[in-house]
Amino acid sequence: MSKILKDKNIVIGVTASIACYKTLELIKKLRNLGANVHVIISKNATRLVDIKDFEIASNNKVHTELFEPNISYLDYIKKDSKIEHISLADIADLFLICPATANIMGKIANGIADDLLSTSVMATNASVLICPAMNVKMWKNPIMQENIKKLKKLSYRFIEPEYGMLACGYEGIGRLANLDKITDNIQAIIEKRSDLKGKKILVTAGATSEEIDPVRVITNKSSGKMGVYLAEEAFLRGAEVTLIRGANSVEPQYHFKDIKISSVKELFQEIRENISDKDIMIHAAAVSDFTISNKSKSKIKSTKSLNLELTPTTKIFEKIKQLKKDIFLLGFKAEYRATKKELINRAYQILKLANADLVVANDVGKQGRGFDTETNEVFIVNKDKKAVHVGLAGKRVIGNRILDEIKRLLLGE
Ligand SMILES: Cc1cc2nc3c(=O)[nH]c(=O)nc-3n(C[C@H](O)[C@H](O)[C@H](O)COP(=O)(O)O)c2cc1C
Repeated sequence: MSKILKDKNIVIGVTASIACYKTLELIKKLRNLGANVHVIISKNATRLVDIKDFEIASNNKVHTELFEPNISYLDYIKKDSKIEHISLADIADLFLICPATANIMGKIANGIADDLLSTSVMATNASVLICPAMNVKMWKNPIMQENIKKLKKLSYRFIEPEYGMLACGYEGIGRLANLDKITDNIQAIIEKRSDLKGKKILVTAGATSEEIDPVRVITNKSSGKMGVYLAEEAFLRGAEVTLIRGANSVEPQYHFKDIKISSVKELFQEIRENISDKDIMIHAAAVSDFTISNKSKSKIKSTKSLNLELTPTTKIFEKIKQLKKDIFLLGFKAEYRATKKELINRAYQILKLANADLVVANDVGKQGRGFDTETNEVFIVNKDKKAVHVGLAGKRVIGNRILDEIKRLLLGE
């Protein structure tokens, strides 16, 4: 028997779909694999199934209410003691919603937290796996599909419903996925969730900016998404993450060390201060190639033309291995409208110059790739000049493929 789920806490949200009785069988399967199962059931779902059946199946108290009856919250607040209204969100190794109604997905996608389940999902750092089940027309509803698209972009994971006869009498897509498939997915996510545990990763992200005067800068169009998502996905896979990012980059949504910088000089300084205990460095920051040597100490008047004197900045990527010889180093190479061959050649050139382990090349001149997009297409180039191609996909998906490649080379898996 696989030990992946042994002693793992799986929180299952059950919502009011006709398929919710099937979750009892799933709970048994998960418990047989050693998991502790905690159930939150929506108030509407209690109209379709008996809470007691879920208590027996999970061998735990089943939760339905956000506000516990017979509790004086005022007393808690006065005593300054911890209110355990979302404690399940904290203990979850995986948060499963099975079956998931159109309603709960709509609520999560729109930030609505009006009951115990939706509030707990919003408060969890665990991976959330959603198993929808519904009438085929509800499934095909464009609002429903938009919600799913939005949730996928935000790293919510899905096991899509299957085709078949539906309880409502229609035939089509909407049946809850096969329970063995759901169990397999849960194991895969939990196994992956901790596959970078014990690894210390330094990630740089976003644009640097160089001052022209105290109020003006030159910078670039990097949003920091690729680096920030990589940091977040590494964190979700168990790594200890330190992020150094351009001050205007997107904000990370998880809690790890997060340092903001502006100039190339500050970025390099923070790298020097944070690199010594790291195993892996992912250098995704879009570093200014030039700094302004004739920058003004006061605001420059805009009445006449101005010549800026640009001098090249330190090539940080090439200095990393000099700071820490044995660090696993991955960098990025952005090219503008290059062929696949050119992309790989240029990535390999900078890999050699920096003595790096991997360089991820992408073409920022193509639509949907590179700066300030949600998607990307990359080639991950290694020391043998072999390239792994990851086709156009969300930046989180790309991030995970990059982390898989690092893991494969570093841990030989
Ligand atoms: C018998 C019955 C079966 C239902 N089955 C589903 C379903 O499979 N999927 C779904 O999205 N909604 C289904 N609904 C509608 C939901 O129960 C309804 O949208 C409800 O507001 C969902 O509440 P909840 O998400 O808080 O559990 C069903 C309703 C009834 C009465």
